[in-house]
Amino acid sequence: MKNSSPDSRISKNSTRHQSIGEILEWKSNRSGLEGKSEHGTFRITVYQDGVIRVQVSRYDEFETNPYAVIAAPEPTPFELTEAGNSLCLSTSLIQLEIDLTSFCLSFFDHHGKLLNQDDSLGISWIGTEVTAYKQVQKNEKFIGLGEKTGNLNRFGKAYTNWNTDYFAYGVGDDPLYMSIPFYLGTHDQGSYGIFFDNTHKTVFNFGASTNRFVYFSAEDGDMDYYFFHQPTVAEIISSYTWLTGRMQMPPKWALGFQQCRYSYYPESEVYAVAQGFRDKKMPADVIYLDIHHMEGYKVFTFDGEKFPDPKAMIARLKEKGFKVVVIMDPGIKTQKGYVPYEEGLENGLFVNYPDGKTYEAQVWPGWCAFPDFTKPETRSWWAEKMAFYTEAGVDGFWTDMNEPASWGQFTPNLIEFDYEGEGASHRKARNIYGMQMARSAQEGSAFQNPGKRPFVLTRSGFAGIQRYAAAWTGDNVASEEHMMAGIRLVNSLGLSGVSFAGYDVGGFAGEASKSLFARWMSIGAFAPFYRAHSMINSNDAEPWAFGEEVEEISRNYMKLRYRLLPTIYSKFYSSTNTGLPISASLAVDYPQDDMIYQSAFQNEYLFCDAFLVAPVESYKEITKVYLPQGEWYYLFSDQKHQGNQVIYQDSPLNYLPVYVKAGQVFAMQSDIEHTGATHDGILRLHVYRGKTGAEFVFYEDAGEGLEYLQEEYFQRSIHYKPESESLILEKSTGKRSSQYQKLRIYFHGFELKTVDVNGKSHAVQHADDAFLEKLTEFDPLPEHHHPYFEIKNLPYLELPHTGEEWVITHLF
Ligand code: NOJ
Repeated sequence: MKNSSPDSRISKNSTRHQSIGEILEWKSNRSGLEGKSEHGTFRITVYQDGVIRVQVSRYDEFETNPYAVIAAPEPTPFELTEAGNSLCLSTSLIQLEIDLTSFCLSFFDHHGKLLNQDDSLGISWIGTEVTAYKQVQKNEKFIGLGEKTGNLNRFGKAYTNWNTDYFAYGVGDDPLYMSIPFYLGTHDQGSYGIFFDNTHKTVFNFGASTNRFVYFSAEDGDMDYYFFHQPTVAEIISSYTWLTGRMQMPPKWALGFQQCRYSYYPESEVYAVAQGFRDKKMPADVIYLDIHHMEGYKVFTFDGEKFPDPKAMIARLKEKGFKVVVIMDPGIKTQKGYVPYEEGLENGLFVNYPDGKTYEAQVWPGWCAFPDFTKPETRSWWAEKMAFYTEAGVDGFWTDMNEPASWGQFTPNLIEFDYEGEGASHRKARNIYGMQMARSAQEGSAFQNPGKRPFVLTRSGFAGIQRYAAAWTGDNVASEEHMMAGIRLVNSLGLSGVSFAGYDVGGFAGEASKSLFARWMSIGAFAPFYRAHSMINSNDAEPWAFGEEVEEISRNYMKLRYRLLPTIYSKFYSSTNTGLPISASLAVDYPQDDMIYQSAFQNEYLFCDAFLVAPVESYKEITKVYLPQGEWYYLFSDQKHQGNQVIYQDSPLNYLPVYVKAGQVFAMQSDIEHTGATHDGILRLHVYRGKTGAEFVFYEDAGEGLEYLQEEYFQRSIHYKPESESLILEKSTGKRSSQYQKLRIYFHGFELKTVDVNGKSHAVQHADDAFLEKLTEFDPLPEHHHPYFEIKNLPYLELPHTGEEWVITHLF
């Protein structure tokens, strides 16, 4: 042991780099080890075989970080060995080597392949700023980090986590509304994930302005990160969501189409828009009330002139099959006599200055106080206040401006938050504020309507936000590049645990051109959250507001979305159990394929496992698509392509390039007007012939309520097995019988006359099928050419849809 390292004389508040220094003492414990170094205290904790937590502090105690992580360490066997100057801690998945002279950490997989290694600068401080410096591995790509603009591979760029209200942000701008300090590294040796659990402003530098290392740092607080390793990227995301939680099953209506505007008012306008969908035969489920529903923008009020009887209005909308979602902003107008303000003051529920005076800033209502959502009492109060909306029949909540936003966009750092009783300044609390507001909204919804599934949509959040709310990407712009950037944002959120996410279809700021709107509606049909929204003082932007051509294209994709709901709903359910994205960047399944990171292909994604969506700008009538390994069927014609190649694809406005992965199975239903409407009782399964098969887990339940947690569902695994030329529908599980009485199985890529069903030969029928309807021959002719695809003579089989096992063989 050395007597003193060169930097041991640097004081804690020096602006110079100070390393953690040599390890002076350590001892093992039941879940890892802890000890002291020259300048810090450290602890290594095994959470699971594939999850190790690293904590380093300058103090004797570690910070608790009460928000993001919900899992406790599981009893996990590990070995600890000391050899020379290093310690090795190994689980069945990770070997962690700790250099005792520098506390530099190296993570290997269980075969000894290096996954991630500290730079020799290791973990260190500059004043209160704490940083972990990491080496870059050969061919390493960095993905994830939540709602961040830029490329899929984040190498070469730096990002800041500081929740920010950013109207009409640019497609390369940072930071935006939500912070998720979790990323994955993937390279020739394998993949890993790192979650830095620190709510201060953090920076992730993936090689901007340096060729020596990548690093992540926080302005203050501990170095407290979780290292994940699993054989696949998908399993790493599952591990991360094991730690930080997964979304709860949303009500089915939240998967339908949602229409928003800043703002629809008065109530006659709301009816007209809702009726518009029904008249136009465009399926839709939700209509939003943005800030003009309030009196003077005061939360928990309705403007009595614009909305004289909200309860009656909402009831009438429900009769038409519409749910209402209302916006809730955190700012409470500081107006004497306004009950929420008076109550908040009286009960100490607001954010204060250190001298106890209420912090005020301006938002829509004028000067406002801000509920301290990091305080349990405030959250309970808010939950009680939400009776105002639920008693009127409101079904969903939209937490906006919760960064928190205020005019001036610069909150003073000294204001104080409860932070679960620990006390914290704005520096530590800002990034968690939005998530705690979303949590209050979810808890309030559940409190007011026990037994119903809450739906909350949030703009701001932090790691773990998926437990409380769906996310949308804020104030985007009506432009082609924004349409493409939004897809990457949603896919990046998906890599970071937030499965339920979307963007404002059509663009919030600015005016969408006809073609842009049509294309955006088609891409949005393949997004987890499907909502159109637009800005105040802009042109009408409902799907019929852009002329007949756009109306027909929009209707086609909206209807396709609704017909696909059995697949989408099943995938949502599986995501509640796995944490895996619904809109999955190709980096989830093909992380080692360099092609998927190329700018031309980085927006492609797998939607609900089966569909490869290759988004394309609206003005491109032909586009290049990269198909990864495997075989792929063009959805609309069944044209088959080999994978591992770039193809040229016609992309007329009415056909978004979408491909089905060979071997996959998905489910559809008949057209419906909204998720509560009755279908024709036939579940349509589509099976795509391939060399490798797949499993599709079909899931249905009541679509609302919590009985599904008591097995009130109908679920079954469906396996297509090319090796035995069979399709096996396993016996169903759960207490319900299916809502579909009949099953129709379509066989794509097969030439079948008969098949065996449970050992008996069965004739196969044939019919033409199309995923989209033919567009009208417009007069005058439209600007765009509209081809029409139909799959001719598609073999299909009809069976009763019972829960018994069905074995279908002889699929040649
Ligand atoms: C900002 C939100 O991002 C936007 O969607 C909303 O319409 C406006 N606030 C008005 O509430």
